[in-house]
Amino acid sequence: MSIQPEPKVLFGCKEIETAVSRLAAEIRGDYHDKHPVLIGVLKGAFVFLADLVRLLDFPLEVEFIMLASYGKGQASSGNVKVIQELGSNILGRHVLIIEDIVDSGLTTTFLLDYLWKKKPTSLKLCAMLDKPSRRRTPVNIDYLGFTISDKFIVGYGIDWGEKFRNLPNICFVEAED
Ligand code: PRP
Repeated sequence: MSIQPEPKVLFGCKEIETAVSRLAAEIRGDYHDKHPVLIGVLKGAFVFLADLVRLLDFPLEVEFIMLASYGKGQASSGNVKVIQELGSNILGRHVLIIEDIVDSGLTTTFLLDYLWKKKPTSLKLCAMLDKPSRRRTPVNIDYLGFTISDKFIVGYGIDWGEKFRNLPNICFVEAED
């Protein structure tokens, strides 16, 4: 039986709250009169999205899309598939993608291309975490919480083998092969 790693705190609840508040203010400034559709990328973004939308006091809609990157250990294969589709049409809408983390960038690149084909009026990206040292394809993040070094992140919606999504802090574990 493998030993479960002990997560260590990278960003605690106070730091998370401050970052989410800052992002909400930025998003409010740009979208308060646009009735946007926020698309949470499942599963990882569910906690971030829940925190963010409760600070956005203007009309908006929430949708989810579930993606999976097959062949993924701790690194993305780039073979991204849609597991669960959006529940509504985004044609002509202002769309904001809500991601927990951009790592290689392959998931985001796939999703941007996938959503642009649905002809939204605008399409932007909000991510809580950016790990630029791992990037394999360029990604522009319009609203960003934190830039981080190459740590394996868990908590705040993000998993390690489906564990730790429920940790309230953004944590990291020591990588194992
Ligand atoms: C994670 C994360 C992003 C993606 C980022 O999702 O939520 O969607 O990986 O990695 P990338 O930039 O290297 O493509 P994951 O595929 O692990 O699924 P999950 O959200 O269901 O945990």
